[in-house]
Amino acid sequence: MSVKDSIFLKNLRGEPCERTPIWVMRQAGRYLPEYQEVRKRYSFNELCRTPEAACEVTLQPIRRFGFDAAIMFSDILTPLEAMGAAFDFSQGGPKLERPVRTEAEIDALRTYEPREGTGFVAEAIALMKEGLGDTTPLIGFAGSPFTLATYLIEGGGSKDFATLKTMLYGRPDLLRKLMDKLTDQTLAYLRMQVEAGVDAVQLFDTWGGILHPVDYAAVVLPCVRRIMDGLADTGVPRIYFLKGSAPYLDLVTTLDVEALGLDWTMDMARSLPHLEGFAVQGNLDPLALFGPHDEIRRRALKICEAGKRAKGHVFNLGHGITPPTPIAAVETLVETVQGFRR
Ligand code: CP3
Repeated sequence: MSVKDSIFLKNLRGEPCERTPIWVMRQAGRYLPEYQEVRKRYSFNELCRTPEAACEVTLQPIRRFGFDAAIMFSDILTPLEAMGAAFDFSQGGPKLERPVRTEAEIDALRTYEPREGTGFVAEAIALMKEGLGDTTPLIGFAGSPFTLATYLIEGGGSKDFATLKTMLYGRPDLLRKLMDKLTDQTLAYLRMQVEAGVDAVQLFDTWGGILHPVDYAAVVLPCVRRIMDGLADTGVPRIYFLKGSAPYLDLVTTLDVEALGLDWTMDMARSLPHLEGFAVQGNLDPLALFGPHDEIRRRALKICEAGKRAKGHVFNLGHGITPPTPIAAVETLVETVQGFRR
């Protein structure tokens, strides 16, 4: 078997298959005891920069649960270090010592050849592909320029994105300048990942959904489009995950991508008529995994059933799995989805 025949890639291409593939966002990480073991030996940043260790934690959830796709272990903020913006993860959430807010600070961000600044990611991908063999496909990823900009401008996570929004309304030219730089760098970074061997790419836009649709269309969407169009010739399926995309469906469906991620605020069955021509990925609430197992099964099957009518359906959570998630709940979820027949 070749990885090209995997049900994950078949669904992204919209080819018929009898079962629904499953992977979950943040599947490699803190809810796994074997991940915690590795983290005793490496800081998070070291882990992302050490190909053998990144490979090991990428494979952990595949070994344990038999997910139908692996996602390379890294972080959306990792490639920003080579631009001169290194995040510190040691205090819980990511922190940037000096946020990027003025024109001089934006100009000071370096652009770089991906193989030079993030060659360790390409090396890790080669190891991961070797470890996964020819059955389990590997997903590469990057953060969207807007989501990256929120972390750079705010200097970390934020509740209201006040600094970013002040720039958006007062100095949109500055925000655009920053995002243009991030767009070029992100496109080059994803192309490097494809050359290194990933089988699909996902763009994570965790915070693109905080804007009025007019601002989303003017500021966020053109950068996403430039990245996705810039990957078209690679032939690798492209997934766009925009958290909070429900009010923007008419906009995101203008993108040239193979698949769209749906968070849990969307009803899959009701959304599908607006998503013709796209494979869909999602969309169980990550916190549903804290409910009784019968309820996990019931909700997962409802999503699988609705997904039958999509061009293709990849089961996933509507956002990343949270650290205290019980392992047994993930086992029930995987068993349920992999046992479902279309
Ligand atoms: O999906 C995977 O398993 C692959 C690895 C992956 C991580 N982060 C590892 C990680 C991926 C795809 C990401 C994406 C990411 N990172 C996003 C987009 C998706 C989303 O969840 O919204 C965002 C916004 C980030 C930024 C980030 N990284 C935050 C806010 C934090 C701290 C809080 C948190 O949720 O963990 C991180 C750290 C991080 N990234 C950890 C892991 C496993 C935890 C680090 C640790 O071991 O302590």
